[in-house]
Amino acid sequence: KQGGSDAAKRAAGESAAEAVEDGMVVGLGTGSTTAHAIRAIGGQVDAGIDVVGVPTSFQSRELAREVGIPLSDLDEVSVDLAIDGADEVADGDLIKGGGAAHAREKVVDASADRFLVVADPTKTADVLSHPVPVEVLSAARTTVAASVRDLGGEPTLRQAERKDGPVVTDNGNLVLDCEFGPIEAPGALGSELAGLPGVVEHGLFVGLADAVHVGGEDGVTVREL
Ligand code: A5P
Repeated sequence: KQGGSDAAKRAAGESAAEAVEDGMVVGLGTGSTTAHAIRAIGGQVDAGIDVVGVPTSFQSRELAREVGIPLSDLDEVSVDLAIDGADEVADGDLIKGGGAAHAREKVVDASADRFLVVADPTKTADVLSHPVPVEVLSAARTTVAASVRDLGGEPTLRQAERKDGPVVTDNGNLVLDCEFGPIEAPGALGSELAGLPGVVEHGLFVGLADAVHVGGEDGVTVREL
C-alpha cells in the first residue's frame, strides 16, 4: 500500500494508543497505520486495562479479535476516543477511503468525543489533492459519475486487485475514486458530493479530527487542532 515506512506508521499508531485510558470505548480505524494502534491497545488489554473497541471495518474487527480487544457497536456504547489513519492530511482535514472503509469510519470517528488521526509524513500536504473515494449504490454509479464530472472531477470505478471486477465495500456498494486536482474548499465539495442521490459516503473528513499524530524517524509530531 502507498505511504511511508512501517516504522513511521508504528510510531504514530503507538503514540495515539497512549491516549487510551482505563474504562474507555475506543473507535478502531482501518488500515496499516491504525493496525499498529490496535496491536498496542491489545497489549494494554493484556496488561489489565478495561477497554471496549468499536471496529470500523471487517479488517479492524478481525485484528481486534486477534489481539483480544472486547468489541461492541454504536447501538450499545458511545465512543470516547477514535483512532484512524488517512490517505492525505492537510490543515487537519482528511481524505480517507484508500481501503474502502470510509463510510463506517466516518460514522465512528465523527461520533467520538475525541478523534486522533495517525499518519506517516508522506500523507501530509498543504492542500488536499488525493482522489476522493465516493461509496455509491451500485445502481447509482453511472449517475453519480456524471455528476462528479459536472463538479469538475474525473471518476474511476475502483477495481479489485485479486478478482475480476470492482471492489465491493463491507456494505455491499461500489467505490468511485474521483480526481479533482487541488481541493481548495473541501467542505463545499463534501457537501456537494453528499447531496448526490445514491452516494452512501465520501472520503472527505472536514473538521472532524481533534489531533494528528505524524510518526517519523525522530519520534512523533502531535498537532492539536
Ligand atoms: C480505509 O478505508 C482508509 O480510510 C484508511 O484509514 C486509510 O487508507 C489509511 O490507511 P493506511 O494507514 O494503511 O495508509
